[in-house]
Amino acid sequence: MKVTIVGAGNVGATCADVISYRGIASEVVLLDIREGFAEGKAMDIMQCATNTGFDTMVSGVTNDYSKTANSDVVVITSGIPRKPGMTREELIGINAGIVKSVADNVLTHSPNAIIVVVSNPMDTMTYLTLKATGLPKNRIIGMGGALDSSRFKYYLSKALDKPSNDISGMVIGGHGDTTMIPLTRLASYNGIPVSQFLSEDKLKEVFEATKVGGATLTGLLGTSAWYAPGASVAYLVDSILNDQKKMIACSVYLEGEYGQNDICMGVPCIIGKNGLEEIVDIKLNDAEKELFAKSADAVRAMNGDLKS
Ligand code: NAI
Repeated sequence: MKVTIVGAGNVGATCADVISYRGIASEVVLLDIREGFAEGKAMDIMQCATNTGFDTMVSGVTNDYSKTANSDVVVITSGIPRKPGMTREELIGINAGIVKSVADNVLTHSPNAIIVVVSNPMDTMTYLTLKATGLPKNRIIGMGGALDSSRFKYYLSKALDKPSNDISGMVIGGHGDTTMIPLTRLASYNGIPVSQFLSEDKLKEVFEATKVGGATLTGLLGTSAWYAPGASVAYLVDSILNDQKKMIACSVYLEGEYGQNDICMGVPCIIGKNGLEEIVDIKLNDAEKELFAKSADAVRAMNGDLKS
């Protein structure tokens, strides 16, 4: 199985690293526009092979899409990352141009690939990719919910003082500080609702911390994060390539689901060899439905910026 990752920067290279040491794909191609950069990243990763013991072949190319031919999955991380104080929304103009041309190029050489969009503002970039390529909705998946959900579980684990892996939780809605919806009501610790252990105020704190989880890291690092984003992309790619049918919150095109139309945003999805296999309809309460509708308004406003 072959994966191409466009953009060999922090997120793209970390994703290649996780895919290779976990043996998720047999071949990974990193592509970047910076001369020699992807080649260097690939070489560095390949020099881990004997110490971490993997067989994945990782190579790097500078803007040569012929080397990406016949990829099963293409991940788009190319774009500029958010700088401190910069909103995801401000990235829109620059990243839209990049994502559109990248999608054209990859499909020329891998016409059957499933495309995973990572570049921000991710929901809008996913929508743009879907509209620009005309591909069926199952083949265009935006990664955001997998990351936001893992941050949610991190903050829950801190509040509970229990291991993250014992915690279950999901973040739906738009992938933005003001638009994501950590589903605190449905989160659980070993199957027991977290509301049995945490006060309403504490849950509110977790909710708010999750929403600004990305911005908190941007403030600390001076640029946006990469370990958890890279690992989240690899987790999603694993479910596609190995047909795991995991339920993962992903940004996908909605046609009436969750009361929304003609928009890409985060909902629980079954992810398998066809990409999006199914959108899972979970019963939201009225407050959650209202948050989802507000989130959709914000994403739609940003999609509007794209058209102007
Ligand atoms: P980075 O700056 O480290 O890497 C981006 C890479 O893309 C650079 O190496 C650059 O040379 C390359 N690039 C730019 N234009 C290109 C083109 N036309 N073709 C090929 N390569 C090109 O940035 P980082 O931190 O890896 O972030 C990448 C993107 O992912 C950003 O838009 C960022 O906001 C987004 N992101 C999204 C997340 C999500 O959950 N959806 C999480 C973290 C980051």
